[in-house]
Amino acid sequence: MKIMCVVLAAGLGKRMNSSLPKVLHTLHGTPMLHHVLNTLYELKPLRIVVVAGKHLKEIKESIGDVSVISFVQQKVPMGTGDALLKAWTALKGFQGTVVVVNGDTPLIMSKTLKQFLTLHSKEKNSVSMLSFIAEDPGSYGRVIRDGAGDIISIVEDRDATERQKKIKEVNSGVYAIETDTPHLLEEIKLNESKGEYYLTDIIGVAKDKGIKIGAYCIGSEDEFMGVNTKKDFGKVRQLMRDRIIKKWVNRGICFIDTNSVYISTDVKIDKGTIIYPNVHLEGNTRIGRGCTIYPNVRVQDSIIGDGVIIKDSTLIEGSLVKRKASVGPFAHIRPGSEIGEEVKIGNFVEVKKSVIGSHTKASHLTYLGDSKVGKNVNIGAGTITCNYDGYKKHVTIVEDDVFIGSDSQLIAPVKIGKGAYVGAGSTITNDVPSLALGLGRARQVNIEDWVLRKKLKIKNKKLKIKYKGKS
Ligand code: UD1
Ligand code: CA
Repeated sequence: MKIMCVVLAAGLGKRMNSSLPKVLHTLHGTPMLHHVLNTLYELKPLRIVVVAGKHLKEIKESIGDVSVISFVQQKVPMGTGDALLKAWTALKGFQGTVVVVNGDTPLIMSKTLKQFLTLHSKEKNSVSMLSFIAEDPGSYGRVIRDGAGDIISIVEDRDATERQKKIKEVNSGVYAIETDTPHLLEEIKLNESKGEYYLTDIIGVAKDKGIKIGAYCIGSEDEFMGVNTKKDFGKVRQLMRDRIIKKWVNRGICFIDTNSVYISTDVKIDKGTIIYPNVHLEGNTRIGRGCTIYPNVRVQDSIIGDGVIIKDSTLIEGSLVKRKASVGPFAHIRPGSEIGEEVKIGNFVEVKKSVIGSHTKASHLTYLGDSKVGKNVNIGAGTITCNYDGYKKHVTIVEDDVFIGSDSQLIAPVKIGKGAYVGAGSTITNDVPSLALGLGRARQVNIEDWVLRKKLKIKNKKLKIKYKGKS
């Protein structure tokens, strides 16, 4: 079967009350429209035409250059019928079945679309539509059937009689239309009450012409939920979240509480990983095998190696954390960082655009920015790389086997040579050679009996006050 697809995405989306185009609202990291496109790719279409309106530029930019996709603009949103008519011109020369879907139904699944297309071709219909039973039919178009059960028409909620409103079988917005069908779209009349051309009227038009039509009630309410309002969006987000979590549970990921974890669609997780409550895995993140991710962690666009432990309340962004490293609690790994194998990044440590060699430890209260730290380095509590002079960022190099004493400031650009020590409390402004001890602090002075002398001084003073004038 030769398939072409059309995605209708030119509506104003007024009911969303948002300046962002409705179809670009993101659900778990992916815009609604992209969810629909990803599903359509699975049908292996020869072409996908996206009908966009005044937001054509933003929509085009969000998709980029995909050879199978072309765009058509519907400058004035004159209804779904008019939108498809605009797309039809872009399909000139193609022969086969056109699958039409709405850009605001992101939960749609290729399995159902394939089943629908099989029924459509088996019955040799010219036009088919996909319907489902809605517990609350709300604003969906109602499917009107005759006594024999054949579809006669679709009536929009706003145009339906009280009796029709009670019908629970509704239009999903998915149609299959043969390209060689005489031009039905042009015969759709303007709906006076809305001032739009309803695509739904294609059924009535085809019926009048004696063209073979079919309506298949194979969808589920959850799968075909259309997003018209922020309330719908919230429901769809929840349904998609559940779908994503279910997929990972089936692939061997252990969740302590499936209700509080959020995983973006592009994230990949390997088997044997345990995820505690309130974890957010976002963007293009990969989590390795056998990791443990404790509560309140957010990982964005990062690669986490096998056996990594991410402790409570930690944020990792745009970084690579290698095998068996441990990060957190309360750590922040900022973009461009590389945390080596078996490294320990502990409490209140911030790492920015730095490479940390394997087996190195920065266990407490440290800032490592624009630095290159070697292997087996011990970074004492309170160490700070002073990487910014108010104008420029500078690099700190700490070679292998270095020991940095607590509360040291390394004023970049500076280099601590292999195996060197930095005494606690040092402010290091010059390079420390390999195997040297760098000290950059005031020498300690002990003044013997200072306290006794101080006390004596106070005592004498008090006596003086007491006996003043009594002699
Ligand atoms: C539409 C159907 C309804 C169906 C429901 C399923 C019509 C008239 N109604 O209603 O029967 O139950 O979808 O979710 O078709 N669009 C355009 N150009 C326009 C108007 C809309 O491209 O001029 C696009 C929108 O961006 C949207 C899709 O078409 O992605 C559907 O439009 P929307 O206004 O959301 O229609 P519904 O009221 O949901
Ligand atoms: Ca809709």
